[in-house]
Amino acid sequence: MSKPDQNKPAAEPEVMEKIVSLCKRRGFVFQSSEIYGGLKSCYDYGPLGAELKRNVKAEWWRYMVHSREDVVGLDASIIMHPNVWRASGHLAGFSDPLVDCKDCKERGRADKWPTVATGTEVEYKVVVDRASGKKETRKAAVGALGIVCGNCGSPNLSDIRRFNLMFRTQLGAVDNIDVIAKALEGKNLSGNELKAAIAGAIEENAVYLRPETAQAMFVQFLNVQAASRLKPPFGIAQQGKSFRNEITVEHFTFRSCEFEQMEMEFFVPPPQYVDKSKGEKDDMDWFNYWCEARLNWYKRLGMRAEKLRLRPHESSELAHYAKACNDVEYDYPWGWGELEGIAHRTDYDLKAHEAASGKKLTYFDPDKKAHYHPWVIEPAAGADRTALAFLIDAYVEEPPSETRKEGRVVLKLHPRLAPIKAAVLPLVKKDGMPEIARKIVAEFFKNGVNSFYDEKDTVGRRYARQDEAGTPYCLTVDGQTAQDGTVTIRERDSMQQERIKVEDAVKAVQKRLTE
Ligand code: GAP
Repeated sequence: MSKPDQNKPAAEPEVMEKIVSLCKRRGFVFQSSEIYGGLKSCYDYGPLGAELKRNVKAEWWRYMVHSREDVVGLDASIIMHPNVWRASGHLAGFSDPLVDCKDCKERGRADKWPTVATGTEVEYKVVVDRASGKKETRKAAVGALGIVCGNCGSPNLSDIRRFNLMFRTQLGAVDNIDVIAKALEGKNLSGNELKAAIAGAIEENAVYLRPETAQAMFVQFLNVQAASRLKPPFGIAQQGKSFRNEITVEHFTFRSCEFEQMEMEFFVPPPQYVDKSKGEKDDMDWFNYWCEARLNWYKRLGMRAEKLRLRPHESSELAHYAKACNDVEYDYPWGWGELEGIAHRTDYDLKAHEAASGKKLTYFDPDKKAHYHPWVIEPAAGADRTALAFLIDAYVEEPPSETRKEGRVVLKLHPRLAPIKAAVLPLVKKDGMPEIARKIVAEFFKNGVNSFYDEKDTVGRRYARQDEAGTPYCLTVDGQTAQDGTVTIRERDSMQQERIKVEDAVKAVQKRLTE
């Protein structure tokens, strides 16, 4: 007899507990609706977290849209025509395999639960008295599914059902209860017929919260192209909320049901319209270009290179329409996992929407005198997951050293991602120091640089608080300031200090932000 391979996600490593605790303490991320016990997988970004996520999105937009002529933006509605999801395949196929444990009642994804060879006898524990929590050890053979419960290890499981991840709702003054009541009026149905009748009635009025931002870029392809007069290769970029009713939510904000995506669809001419002898890039050149570009984006914003890798998808992982796909992966505390996917989607989406809508979605190339469906390279990232990876990567515990009696926790965030760019600290609350410090803060705000005034506690404690918040620069007003008009500027990571003129404070920080 063998024990089941309890291939459950390991308990969250200690460092994650510390990061989650820092996130709450410093106001990065809170559990949603906490005073009501919280809501599984829903999170709120506090003052520092809201700034961090805004900065992540701003850096993405700056790089993907504002630094080049061939990518433009879109801000589409979250609820789209339900036929969009029929044509894209999400209604039929965007589902996970759902399974229930008949012993502990855990519900999970069959593809995530431990696999054990069919027929193997396994031992597992079942709670037999809820009040006392008393457990009984049982033995049973693994069934045809070849998996055991991810919670208790029991092989006593339900059949697998497909569970669609899209959130369904209704638009307008339609109440599903009325819809169902009307559909069933006078019919004496039961069992599967009843289920089918209810499903049919609901489906007729249903709309869906988008599970990805991408589809809007396909259905608006021609409008955007005509309005911006761009010619392939060109891209449409979008950021916004997406929703997936995930069966397994995990690792803090890594996988949740409501999240923000940052996606770009880059439309390129099909290979037969590319002249490589003239230096034109073909679809695979663009695929490789975006893989490198996206990987480097994370590195340039300070993410450690050794924690990043590009993982090509196995052919078995590829969607049937995809020619290639690479994930940018990060080495999270629980192991390597996806940060962003870069997919070569061929012309599948444009053709699918053309077939379903009956509206031509081809581009007319006046030089080649040809109508064609462009092929699409899609770098698709998540703002929440990216913000989390940057937080994890930046989290450092420094032990005490010769020059510092106490250790410190510091978030070594890239200055452009840091929520607060500069903290201004009067050394003491007298001798005109608070007044000068407040004037410096006002100057920062006037110039659009997020800054923070702090006069509470010793200056050492204030530095420590700003280190934990990831603030790259602290400016301290001291006794010398009134005499020579200078302040110290302390750099977070090196803790080096130098004196600069008060009137140069904003410029000095701004210069460092653009380095
Ligand atoms: N249009 C392609 C697409 O949506 P995806 O790999 O499903 O591809 C892209 O999603 C990115 O969105 C992921 O790499 C991840 O960063 C983010 N993402 C997806 N599902 C998520 C979830 N449940 N919670 C948080 N982020 C998620």
